[in-house]
Amino acid sequence: MEVIITREDQIGELVAEEIAALIARKPNAVLGLATGSSPLRIYDAVAARVASGEFSLAHASAFTLDEYVGLPDGHPCGYRTVIEEDFVSRVDLPTEAVQGPDGGSSDLDGACASYEEAIRKAGGVDLQILGIGTDGHIAFNEPGSSFASRTRPKTLTAQTRRDNARFFDGNIDAVPVHCLTQGLGTIMEARHVVLVATGEGKAEAVKHLVEGAVSAFWPGTILQHHPHVTVFVDDAAASKLQ
Ligand code: F6R
Repeated sequence: MEVIITREDQIGELVAEEIAALIARKPNAVLGLATGSSPLRIYDAVAARVASGEFSLAHASAFTLDEYVGLPDGHPCGYRTVIEEDFVSRVDLPTEAVQGPDGGSSDLDGACASYEEAIRKAGGVDLQILGIGTDGHIAFNEPGSSFASRTRPKTLTAQTRRDNARFFDGNIDAVPVHCLTQGLGTIMEARHVVLVATGEGKAEAVKHLVEGAVSAFWPGTILQHHPHVTVFVDDAAASKLQ
């Protein structure tokens, strides 16, 4: 695990650099996209580079990591809508080349199985962008998640629902209780994992991620066993590292 401590405003550019290098050697690369605040600067930096003609995502494809269950199609907080607005609509990645687990399906287990199959058919994820929750979750693999888990329905912790209420006008009751999420086993198959964490609120999770014992209580710690992980943190998120 490589840990890079840098200014928050540098992180987007550094990850965009990684993506540019990937696309240069593999124009049809498969990206793994996270939602939330952490990847926004990456998406800004990639959008700027695509707009300037530095590289193109026209032949790439992408998988979003997770989705709330039960939000109506097109809900502004649905991760499919969010990723379209934050990223896909700003680059030349074709909308139909982006897939996510279908949280609106009447057969959630079937939706998870089809999503796993789609990742397999695409040849796996080349570069997976991740954030980390204050409780140590990656994607929505909350504490206690199995390290072997695949995409499946999960229940969000009260902490995650509190953290995400900011996207729902501060109303925790509006945050869905369930989600579909890539499993830890699924994430571990990505060829390169890039995790971004900024701000003091992530310091405890980052400490466990980087220096803690590998434990299902802090799901991100499984990444210590991945052969190619790059963690980008700012000073505040790194403040509890030894
Ligand atoms: C989002 C996701 C989550 C977030 C995490 C951090 O697709 O899978 O694991 O990455 O909750 O969220 P932010 O970046 O908003 O602090």
